[in-house]
Parts: sequence; structure tokens; C-alpha cells
Amino acid sequence: MQQLIRGRVLDFFADPADTEQNHRYHENGAILIENGRILAVGDHADLRRAGLEEVDHRPHLILPGFIDPHIHFPQLQVIASWGAQLLDWLNTYTFPAEAEFADPAHAARMAGLFLDQLTAHGTTTAVAFCSSHKTSAEAMFTAAHARDMAMIAGKVMMDRGAIPAVHDTAQSSYDDSKALIASWHGKGRQRYAITPRFAITSTPEQLAAAGQLAAEHPDCHVQTHLSENRDEIDYTLSLYPQARDYLDIYEAHGLLGPKTLLGHSIHLEPREIARMAETQSRAVFCPTSNLFLGSGLFDAEGLRAAGITSGIATDVGGGTSWSMLQTLNEGYKILQMRGTRLHPMAAFHWATRGNALALGMEDEIGTLAPGSAADLVVLDPRATPAMALRAERASTLSEELFILQIMGDDRAVAQTYIAGRPQKGNAG
Ligand code: GUN
Ligand code: ZN
Repeated sequence: MQQLIRGRVLDFFADPADTEQNHRYHENGAILIENGRILAVGDHADLRRAGLEEVDHRPHLILPGFIDPHIHFPQLQVIASWGAQLLDWLNTYTFPAEAEFADPAHAARMAGLFLDQLTAHGTTTAVAFCSSHKTSAEAMFTAAHARDMAMIAGKVMMDRGAIPAVHDTAQSSYDDSKALIASWHGKGRQRYAITPRFAITSTPEQLAAAGQLAAEHPDCHVQTHLSENRDEIDYTLSLYPQARDYLDIYEAHGLLGPKTLLGHSIHLEPREIARMAETQSRAVFCPTSNLFLGSGLFDAEGLRAAGITSGIATDVGGGTSWSMLQTLNEGYKILQMRGTRLHPMAAFHWATRGNALALGMEDEIGTLAPGSAADLVVLDPRATPAMALRAERASTLSEELFILQIMGDDRAVAQTYIAGRPQKGNAG
């Protein structure tokens, strides 16, 4: 069945930082959808047809749904936990909360609520760390598959350095990941990410098992954390005294490459930057988390200049907002501290096509190109009285986007579509 979704339609086909010619905008636009895929995008006058079902979102903006390339499923009740930096925060709040995901009933309930929060905030694809329990990944994939939502997720591998309730072993983590890949990778829209949590919580044996999985499944992503916090780095290097630097630990275990997502990547040595660029490993910037945990200021421009592709992500529950709009807001401020300016066109490119490029999934998500999934977000730049007041003085599309970027959150998300299906109660 075909349907037409009408509004002010915007997407990107190139990075605004590279070229003036980067976006497509149809002021009186529409998106033609069939079986959850985009068939055509253009002016409403050209796409309308008698008898075609039509949803009218004017005057709102319609963009590709947001992509969140780094988030922790079992931390949805850890967000807003007071007073600690990374290692204390993990020990005090995070590991105990993740232990509860051994219970399949808890994991299943939380998986539905997790996906509800993503779509309420306009996020249509996320890359999620689950807990170390196979049940948590089963629950996540089951819930996402039922919604036809493109999720990338993995059971965390962690065999030391936390509490027994969240520890696996090198062998069990290999076996469980292998079984999850067999069940879920490529099933519908689900994909598996091999997920060693970080070097502190993995023995060398476990990182070797992760590297073996990556070699056996080169089409799976790999996700982990790198150089987030100074104490973390010092402790990591003490655990791996033979490593040249933090990245070298992952490199030595065969974990780098274009499918590898390295969360945070803040305090990097020149050699690490050069190797990330050579291996085409991705950095993932998590601005609200980096500020909340006092971790540091990501060098977006420096990594870009070195030829590294970066994503931008919430990192809930170290991150403080589910909203990619709020994530772009805090990202803007961190770039300010670094002396660069994040243009709203570049910001919205980043949260959509840019993150799709970081995942190597730009043919499937992140743009409105025909053939892509009809994963959409409908945004209202006048969603709150304060935004409407500010918008009275906005005369360009860039200004409207910037209001959304700085003042917007889930209230600005009028609707979210997953594979052509509206996720919010009303269609408005
Ligand atoms: N490093 C290892 N685990 C985590 C986590 O859960 N959150 C963050 N922010 N950093 C980590
Ligand atoms: Zn994280």
C-alpha cells in the first residue's frame, strides 16, 4: 500500500562542512512510501494522486529519523545519578542496575520502554550496549524486531573488574555472542555488534575472543569505549603494561576497522589518532555524557582533519538526555570551547546521514533517498511558547533548525515513523 506524507521535507546528500551543495529542501514537499520504503520525494503537487492516503504535517519539518550510535539499554534508570566521575559512577550506580537484566521479565519490560523513549525523541535507529546477560540482548532484539526498528545491539562482554552479578567469562561471552549473532544478525532489520565493554572489564583472553568473533563475522559492528576519562586511561594502561597506548590494546586483539565504534575517544595520543584514521575506525562523540561525568572536551575538528569519521550520540545513562536535539545542543557548546562552530545544517546532517555514514548504513537509513527505509522524524520548531517566541524572528531554514538544536527536545517531535508506521498516538 502506498501513502503520502506531506510537510516541509529536508535531508542531506553531502556534509555541509564539505560543500555548499548538501541538502534537498521541499517547502511544499511530500514523501511517497510503499511497504515501509521511500519511493519518491519531491513537491507535493508532483506526487499527489487521487485516492492516495495522505498525512499532512504542515507546517512541520520532516527529516530522516535520528540515529543514536552509542547508548546503553540497561541504563535507562541510571540516567541522572549524582556526583561521580566514570569509574565511581560505574561501580556505584551502573553495574548494580545492569545486574537486574539477568531477569528476562525485567529485561523485556525495559526493552519496550527503551524503544518507546527512543521514538518519543525522534530516534529511529540506535546502537545499544545491552547488559552482559544474553537475556538482555534477546529482549532488545525481540522488541525491536516486533516494531521493525533497525537496531544494532550486543551483549556486553565483561569478565572482570565489576561485580560477580555482571561478570561473564571469556568462553561464555564468546558462546553467547555467537549464539546471538546466529539468531539475530540479519534477521529483519536487526544487526549484531560485538561488544567488549572496555579494556578494564575484559581480560586479554576475553579481548582475544572478541577479536575472534570480529574475524569470524566481519559484517558485524564492534563497539567499545576508548579514552573517556584520565583515571580510566591510567588504570587501563596499568592492566595492559605491554600496550603502547589505550588504542593499542584493541588493535592488538584485532578489534579495529571501519565497523568499529569507539565511544568517547577524547584524550587521544597522536599515534592513536593516526591509527584510527588508517584503520578507518570510528569515533563516537557523546557530549551530554562527557560534560555530566566531567570527562573532557571531544576534539571533533582535530579528528575530522585527521581523516576520522565521527558519530554523535546520547550515551544514556552517562548521557543526560535521550534527545539528539539536546545532544546537538551540548555538542555545539563543546565545539565552542574548542573554538569551532557547529552550523545547524552540519548538526542535522551529523544526527542523520553523518551517523549513518559512521555506521556504513547510508544506503538504508539517514537520508530520504528512494529505496531507504521510511524512518522519519517530524519536527515542530515552534513546539513550546519560548520556541515560538524565538521563531518569530527566524527568517531562514538554518535559523529554524538552530532553534530546534538549542531549545528542542521530545516536545518538538510531532511524530516519528518507523518503516512508514507512526509511533506516536496521534498522527498530527
Ligand atoms: N565505559 C565503560 N562502560 C561505560 C558505560 O557504561 N558508560 C560510559 N559512559 N563509559 C563506559
Ligand atoms: Zn557508553
